[in-house]
Amino acid sequence: MARNNVVKLARATPPSPTVMDTVNGGKGSIQLGDSMTCYAQWPKPTAIIADGPYGLAKFPGEPHTADGLDEWYAPHVAEWSKAAMPETTLWFWCSELGWAEVHRVLKMHGWKYKAAHIWNKGIGHIAGNVNGDTIRGFPVVTEICVQYVRDWKLATETGDLLPLKQWLRHEWQRSGLPLYRTNEACGVKNAATRKYFTQCHLWYFPPADKMELLAAYATKNGAPTDRPYFSLDGKAPLDAEQWSRMRAKWSHAHGITNVWDEPAVRGDERLRAQGLKSVHINQKPLRLMERIINASTEAGDVIWEPFGGLCSATVGAMRTGRQGYAAEVLPDFYTAAVRRLKEEAGNIGIRKSNKRNTA
Ligand SMILES: C[S@@+](CC[C@H](N)C(=O)[O-])C[C@H]1O[C@@H](n2cnc3c(N)ncnc32)[C@H](O)[C@@H]1O
Repeated sequence: MARNNVVKLARATPPSPTVMDTVNGGKGSIQLGDSMTCYAQWPKPTAIIADGPYGLAKFPGEPHTADGLDEWYAPHVAEWSKAAMPETTLWFWCSELGWAEVHRVLKMHGWKYKAAHIWNKGIGHIAGNVNGDTIRGFPVVTEICVQYVRDWKLATETGDLLPLKQWLRHEWQRSGLPLYRTNEACGVKNAATRKYFTQCHLWYFPPADKMELLAAYATKNGAPTDRPYFSLDGKAPLDAEQWSRMRAKWSHAHGITNVWDEPAVRGDERLRAQGLKSVHINQKPLRLMERIINASTEAGDVIWEPFGGLCSATVGAMRTGRQGYAAEVLPDFYTAAVRRLKEEAGNIGIRKSNKRNTA
């Protein structure tokens, strides 16, 4: 059922992307059009940075309430799920209420909630411009960036799909060996039964070296089988490198919590047009973009930015040597974003070549 504030977009094939390569191996690719028409052409993403409608009517065509955002996002979420890999992270930016509407849809499509990060723009964001009698509440100076990962499932010998935690237990049971021998297999006192094979909330993802030991032990001591134990595809023996890619990437940075104190974009970073304070009111700080990119991807990885605006995530991708893929449906924003990405490619080139010259 379509609700009245849900904006429908025409879905024609978008023109070919404008692509900017950088000398640090980064890439920025942008298309004018509805991202729904781009997903099938884009390579699989290690991160999706979604900063679309919040239900606040802040950019042309944005719904003015959060009601119906679940329906608006549903086709996008379905496409993100199709393209996601076990190592993919989704960073879903929204208002708190918008996220509350969309969370159920994300969950339904196999996205597992990890954490909600609060972007606190601080008191400077309101700069005394608050009429308490009108708003009758505390002024809101936050947005939310919610981290989701995949709830990945693997097939058993009968084709049933099980979450990793159950699949591991199932594979060991298939060997006919008692559970306590997983500890011997891993060379640990009780960590295997306590962490890797428990079925409770204390479950841990087993490291690749332990998985190799478990597979080798089951093969040597378990019931003979044509299907290698712990094989990801049921045919090839377990590959440690592949196993380590069965969960979302994460590079930890100490000292960062889920509250991000960062002023709204100002100064040189803020894109301005003549006579306007800003080209796009929703422009996100590059510092936050680079933070989530560095935490959840590695150099060379693909990052999707389905709702480009001025493409801050793609700029972050270029700066950090990743491959950014963006779409923007409104021609004015698209044009400004292309200019920004081209400048960025040039800047990185200049910075790098200066570095080389002085080395
Ligand atoms: C919140 S803004 C993104 C701002 C961006 N993160 C930045 O830092 O500049 C959302 C943008 O998505 C665009 N948009 C909305 N629906 C879209 C769609 N289906 N495909 C592509 N772009 C879309 C809007 O025109 C708007 O510019």
